[in-house]
Amino acid sequence: MATSRRFFRPTWAEIRLGALRDNLRRFRRRMPGGVKILFVVKGNGYGHGAAACARAAQRSGGADWLGVSSVEEGVCLREAGIRMPILILGSLYPFESFLAAAEFGLTPTVASLDSARRLVDAAKRLGRRVACHLKVETGMGRIGMSPAAAVGAAEYLVGGGLVECSGVYTHFSCAETDRAFVFAQLRRFRLCLAELARAGVTPRLRHAANSAAALRFPAARLDLVRPGLALYGLYPGFSPVLSLKSKVVFLKTIPKGSVVGYGATFRARRPTRVATIPIGYADGYPRRLSNRSCVLLGGRRCPVIGTVSMDMLMLDATDVPAARVGDDAVLIGRQGRAEIPVGELAAAARAIPYEITTALAARVPRVAVP
Ligand SMILES: Cc1ncc(COP(=O)(O)O)c(C=O)c1O
Repeated sequence: MATSRRFFRPTWAEIRLGALRDNLRRFRRRMPGGVKILFVVKGNGYGHGAAACARAAQRSGGADWLGVSSVEEGVCLREAGIRMPILILGSLYPFESFLAAAEFGLTPTVASLDSARRLVDAAKRLGRRVACHLKVETGMGRIGMSPAAAVGAAEYLVGGGLVECSGVYTHFSCAETDRAFVFAQLRRFRLCLAELARAGVTPRLRHAANSAAALRFPAARLDLVRPGLALYGLYPGFSPVLSLKSKVVFLKTIPKGSVVGYGATFRARRPTRVATIPIGYADGYPRRLSNRSCVLLGGRRCPVIGTVSMDMLMLDATDVPAARVGDDAVLIGRQGRAEIPVGELAAAARAIPYEITTALAARVPRVAVP
């Protein structure tokens, strides 16, 4: 167990930076030359540790941009020594955030005419030019301007001479599920780009595609793609970067008929060897997985029995008679030939893979390995 800082409770997330670099290379090979890659590291790098992932991307040159959700996330990366261009994907509010974004060299998104005005005010206060990306709403219904409003905002920004619209983008709502919807959004986006061009605004970076859209639809790649999921290996054809590991801290055998955990939701049908693992819902392991998931022990899948507690869960380790206190347990990832992918846990928890990895708590150390 390699440690970058000291921890005693044997529960950690192993982050394979080599797999991340491979995924970046693999993804790059799937894109035509000239298409830039914005690596989405919001939500603490989808729970993988944003700084370590961003550093790996910066050192390998595998990505051109990084994407975060807030000024705070961008500042953390700057403080970790990241010099790459960083786009804040969220809509900034309060508007003072524009000053902080500029101070740390973060590119803000302008998603409304109001925020366009406030960005111009911020540029005036700073007395220098700043850049932004415009966000156009084409069918996500989240943040962004209608194509007509985007043209108005762009004219206003460019007219003032202090703000450069270096990018314009939209976001697909159904990239994995509805091809026709993707193309309808893309058509709306292209119409908006044409209107912007007629108004004399031609941002260098036009972008729309997340992992699924970039990989499935060449027409959606435009000048830049914004993958997250694929680079963390949570999309078919890419290698998982994160494993969630722990160790057996307690073992006992209970007689047939004994119960396990809060609410006594598990009753032993045979004499059962119960292994206790020090991870629970306060670590981000969903309580919904009580009696529904497995953990790898001795290369075998052992069912989680009883209710997942805040800090512990129990396994039926009867079929691993050699199990001992101190043995490795794998909650996500591989052990020998067995594997528990994030997708399996997500399905069992009626969640999506993004939820499982981003929910991993701060108290779970992220241990980067080559
Ligand atoms: C605006 C935006 N772009 C790109 C992404 C990356 O998506 P994915 O992880 O599916 O590649 C996200 C993720 O939620 C996003 O919100």
